[in-house]
Amino acid sequence: MIDFKELAKEYGTPLYVYDFDYMAAQYTKLKEAFRGRKSIIAYAVKANSNLSVIKHFAKMGSGADCVSIGEVRRAFLAGIPAYKIIFSGVGKSDAEIREAIERDILYINVESEAELGRVELIAKELEAKARISIRVNPNIDPKTHPYISTGLHDNKFGVDLESAKRMYIKANNSESLDPVGIHFHIGSQLTELDPIREAAEIVADLVRSLDAIDIELKFFDVGGGLGIKYDDETTIEPYDYAQAILGTLTGLDMTIICEPGRFLTANAGYFVTKVLYEKQNGDKKFVVVDGAMNDLLRPSLYNAYHKIEALTEADSQELQKVDIVGPVCESGDFFAKDYMLPHVEHNDLLVIKSAGAYGFGMGSNYNTRGRSAEVAVEGSKVRLIRKREDFEDLIALEREFLED
Ligand code: LLP
Repeated sequence: MIDFKELAKEYGTPLYVYDFDYMAAQYTKLKEAFRGRKSIIAYAVKANSNLSVIKHFAKMGSGADCVSIGEVRRAFLAGIPAYKIIFSGVGKSDAEIREAIERDILYINVESEAELGRVELIAKELEAKARISIRVNPNIDPKTHPYISTGLHDNKFGVDLESAKRMYIKANNSESLDPVGIHFHIGSQLTELDPIREAAEIVADLVRSLDAIDIELKFFDVGGGLGIKYDDETTIEPYDYAQAILGTLTGLDMTIICEPGRFLTANAGYFVTKVLYEKQNGDKKFVVVDGAMNDLLRPSLYNAYHKIEALTEADSQELQKVDIVGPVCESGDFFAKDYMLPHVEHNDLLVIKSAGAYGFGMGSNYNTRGRSAEVAVEGSKVRLIRKREDFEDLIALEREFLED
């Protein structure tokens, strides 16, 4: 049991707390599910890019799925070997492509014909052969929130099957390109297996048709997306997930790559915030806390549900219906609406659950608020893995004013 009160006393609030043992257990569960096949779990760094978190996975043998050169650099710093690093994203700049090739990562995941052209040109300039995969958009409805759905032609990601085939042929004929993998990612927070199976089947068929023309790919990258329980969702068991994917690969000897983010970190994370005030506006009751949308944006951006527990000293445990809001000057600054919470008092703590993925990383300094500290708990050890930002950190990069 994590002692949130003790941590809040020691490190202040708002505070992110990560259970490193939980992260390790999730990693092992998924890795085990693919036992018997060559596989790489490439942690999706965007979910939680704190260097200590990445290093924690690196020590377990994880790879990294990165979407900017900044993430690639983080992965290297955290000790992920080059041959387990993947670089994806629809808009890579020339400089990013160049650095990825120079760093000799596992492959660049290409998302358009135009990008393939840039990668080829830059590899040629560097007199290198760039390993690539192509992100295929299988046009499958993943049945998740539209903002995190990515595998439909309406979405900006990847290329359709016909274009993918053309691109593989081009890459195979190029002196500067080495097509080694194929990739798809249909969305995030997936709770149904069928769309994943369907997408894998489509992509595996493409692999077979490429095989037939002597283009042999080594890596079958199924992206991330495994859903977790925020509330009472039915989720996919890693074993069933692995079986569904493996079932589509009969006759193909490929290394499976998967890129989980949320599955590894979301339920390992807690956002701890302190109650400032209770407030009544007509019939509506608000609990105002010291954390805000700049710390944890998901409720404001996606209307996402996060379970919230009150650690209160108040006598009455009777529930009342409240909106839990932060100090930022936006009506959208809330953690929950019409939430049943016990009566809370000044300085009580609220623990917001499932905050370990897309929490801190989507934070900002809006309203000149410094971002929270981050703490890792592992066994009985507690470590501060990022210090709280103070005012000086926030203004450190601003120039002209100081030079007047
Ligand atoms: N691979 C690719 C190519 C991705 O685009 C993503 C997530 C992942 C892997 C990891 O997905 P995961 O396993 O975490 O579902 N901010 C949103 C989620 C955006 C996900 C973007 N891509 C949220 O808070 O729900």
